[in-house]
Amino acid sequence: MRKDLLLIWMIIFCLGFTLSFSRPGRAPFAMRISCGAQQDSQTKPTQTHWLKDLGYTGGIAANGTRPSYISPPLRTLRYFPLSEGPQNCYNINGVPKGHYSIRIFFGIVIQHSATSEPLFDISIDGTLIHSLKPGWTNEDDQVFSEALVFLNNGSVSICFHSTGHGDPAILSIEILEIDEKAYYFGPQWGQEVMLRTVKRLSCGYGQSKFGIDYGGDPWGGDRFWRHIQTFGQGSDQPRSVETEIKKASLPPNFYPESLYQSALVSTDSEPELTYTMDVDPNRNYSIWLHFAEIDNSVTAAGQRVFDVMINGHVILRDVDIINMSGDRYTALVLNATIPVDGRTLTITLHPTGDSNAIISAIEIFEIIMVESKTISEEVKALQTLKTALGLPSRFGWNGDPCVPQEHPWTGADCQLNRSIGKWVIDGLDLNNQGLKGFLPNDISRLQNLHTLNLSGNSIHGAIPSSLGTITSLEVLDLSYNLLNGSIPESLGQLISLQRLNLNGNSLSGRVPEALGGRLLHRASFNFTDNSGLCGIPGLPTCGAHLSAGAKVGIGLGACFAFLFLVTCSVCWWKRRQNILRAKQIAARAAPYAKARTHLSDIQLTKHQSHSHSHHHHRHHHHSNARTAAENGPILLS
Ligand SMILES: *[C@@H]1O[C@H](CO)[C@@H](O)[C@H](O)[C@H]1NC(C)=O
Ligand SMILES: *[C@@H]1O[C@H](CO)[C@@H](O)[C@H](O)[C@H]1NC(C)=O
Ligand SMILES: *[C@@H]1O[C@H](CO)[C@@H](O)[C@H](O)[C@H]1NC(C)=O
Ligand SMILES: *[C@@H]1O[C@H](CO)[C@@H](O)[C@H](O)[C@H]1NC(C)=O
Ligand SMILES: *[C@@H]1O[C@H](CO)[C@@H](O)[C@H](O)[C@H]1NC(C)=O
Ligand SMILES: *[C@@H]1O[C@H](CO)[C@@H](O)[C@H](O)[C@H]1NC(C)=O
Ligand SMILES: *[C@@H]1O[C@H](CO)[C@@H](O)[C@H](O)[C@H]1NC(C)=O
Ligand SMILES: *[C@@H]1O[C@H](CO)[C@@H](O)[C@H](O)[C@H]1NC(C)=O
Ligand SMILES: *[C@@H]1O[C@H](CO)[C@@H](O)[C@H](O)[C@H]1NC(C)=O
Repeated sequence: MRKDLLLIWMIIFCLGFTLSFSRPGRAPFAMRISCGAQQDSQTKPTQTHWLKDLGYTGGIAANGTRPSYISPPLRTLRYFPLSEGPQNCYNINGVPKGHYSIRIFFGIVIQHSATSEPLFDISIDGTLIHSLKPGWTNEDDQVFSEALVFLNNGSVSICFHSTGHGDPAILSIEILEIDEKAYYFGPQWGQEVMLRTVKRLSCGYGQSKFGIDYGGDPWGGDRFWRHIQTFGQGSDQPRSVETEIKKASLPPNFYPESLYQSALVSTDSEPELTYTMDVDPNRNYSIWLHFAEIDNSVTAAGQRVFDVMINGHVILRDVDIINMSGDRYTALVLNATIPVDGRTLTITLHPTGDSNAIISAIEIFEIIMVESKTISEEVKALQTLKTALGLPSRFGWNGDPCVPQEHPWTGADCQLNRSIGKWVIDGLDLNNQGLKGFLPNDISRLQNLHTLNLSGNSIHGAIPSSLGTITSLEVLDLSYNLLNGSIPESLGQLISLQRLNLNGNSLSGRVPEALGGRLLHRASFNFTDNSGLCGIPGLPTCGAHLSAGAKVGIGLGACFAFLFLVTCSVCWWKRRQNILRAKQIAARAAPYAKARTHLSDIQLTKHQSHSHSHHHHRHHHHSNARTAAENGPILLS
């Protein structure tokens, strides 16, 4: 009894063991979002579960029309008018690290359906994966975009970029986990690459279907297979069988068995099979071809042998399905990676003997290099700035500031730092945008800024002293704002500064001496039209504008001076009275007294003239500096 139990346990253990090795032992992660929806829902016929709308940065929920029967049967969508910014995203968290198929269905807002279809760009984590092409609403497999990506950070950002042709409108987003090794095509495959699905065709008899409808393994990612009954040359025939197909649903790609139960076969009169499609030029493509020998007339290896050519180049020589798959009714998957310069991709199966060709399915992916990102420190800085400056929503500023390179944030200039493989913000130009906020300290996290131009807004408050730590700054233009307070001493540390415009604000106080010193180094500074700046040539000398302590000091000083003056006046008056009295006494005869008064007057005048000439000397120094300054491009009106 005990022994039997042990045996059973061992069998169960071994079964579990082999199962866990043949396929991942759990259901794949799947998240499906019904855009614009206010409630979770299930759709027929497969009871697919859709989450209500989440993670979006803006946009408007609306009722939509499905552009094609293959779109999921959802009623709502989310669209992004230009007033919400040129780029909007879905930032989705809670996605475990893994390999995913991300699919986005497009929709059309019911009220907009009369006008033309929107054209826009789509990016995943900053990498541009798809630009919608005119006519997408007429092609079943163009009503969605799909890419295979690795996600490592528990989140993914899917963004939609306006191109000026209508408002992006999104029906659904699906994030479906696939096998870690899915679509391994060679050494280039991996984290640095995304595969965009360009075409997925099931050849022969049948219907267009999703993986779910095929009864395919969920680890296959619920692929959509567009059915094609002829390549169009009139030289091919569909064929199908019910026979079981061996080696079909294997990892890592888990192709549905029925994919191999139909095929296109070339005719004896025209033995070549040729499929041609339009593609974007100058890209690399990964091409996956599916075969199974399901033709009764071919029964052994060597009976059907053909070359596979792409755009005229042989990429697979002497393909013998039975030999390579090991048997009849057995799946064979071959893949090849090729660069395509032109706008067409032609796949030709060219029989080498007197046989003909056969094919079950074709998949074509565009290989896309993953974009570098912007340094996260600088992204955070810009996000803080966005809030602090109260950036209008028409700016968008969603997703990554620098990528996709075709769609950087308005106002941001980006530079790729190749040594760290990250983008940095090189310049920020938001002049004359009606901004009403303040400058946060965090602006100093933009440590690679060379230019900052915020001229002509209504930015109030103080200039943050942290600005002085951005030592790369060459141009700083904060002119024509409502900035107040004094210029921080730290700005003196900006050793690269060439242009500094602080004119047209309400700044007051002493201009940092270090800045004044900088004036001699071919720099151009403008401090005019402020409440009261002082301390450098061309501006008033400081004194009137002092700290509270100094003001108290001056006040006390003034009181003492006043008292002193009063005392002096009293003394003088008394003395004058004395003199008058003496004069009255001396009116009779005392000439020497008058001479003595005269002498003291002379001494006083001499002293005054001395101090005056000293002052004049100092003033002369100033105007010297000013003359020197005026020789260079120093502007101090
Ligand atoms: C969408 O359609 C439903 C009725 O089907 C209607 O009640 C709802 O108000 C519509 N929503 C919008 C945003 O137009
Ligand atoms: C994910 O995090 C790693 C390191 O933590 C970083 O190198 C990578 O750029 C991040 N990826 C994304 C898409 O944010
Ligand atoms: C795809 O082709 C490459 C190179 O020929 C090969 O190394 C790889 O194993 C193939 N992938 C699959 C899944 O067959
Ligand atoms: C195509 O692949 C080659 C070799 O891997 C690479 O040098 C080239 O940059 C790629 N082209 C594109 C457009 O990605
Ligand atoms: C395939 O062909 C090779 C020689 O071309 C032969 O050695 C091998 O046995 C064949 N395999 C099968 C399964 O027929
Ligand atoms: C790139 O970044 C590194 C490290 O932050 C820095 O030392 C280097 O100067 C930067 N290169 C450029 C060209 O900015
Ligand atoms: C800032 O932008 C304004 C408007 O384009 C321009 O006139 C000004 O010269 C810029 N400032 C600097 C320092 O380049
Ligand atoms: C600057 O202006 C703000 C109001 O915008 C005011 O609260 C603050 O006290 C002012 N600071 C100085 C130093 O005048
Ligand atoms: C400095 O700013 C004032 C206005 O604030 C302007 O009139 C003057 O032309 C500017 N000086 C230079 C040299 O740009």
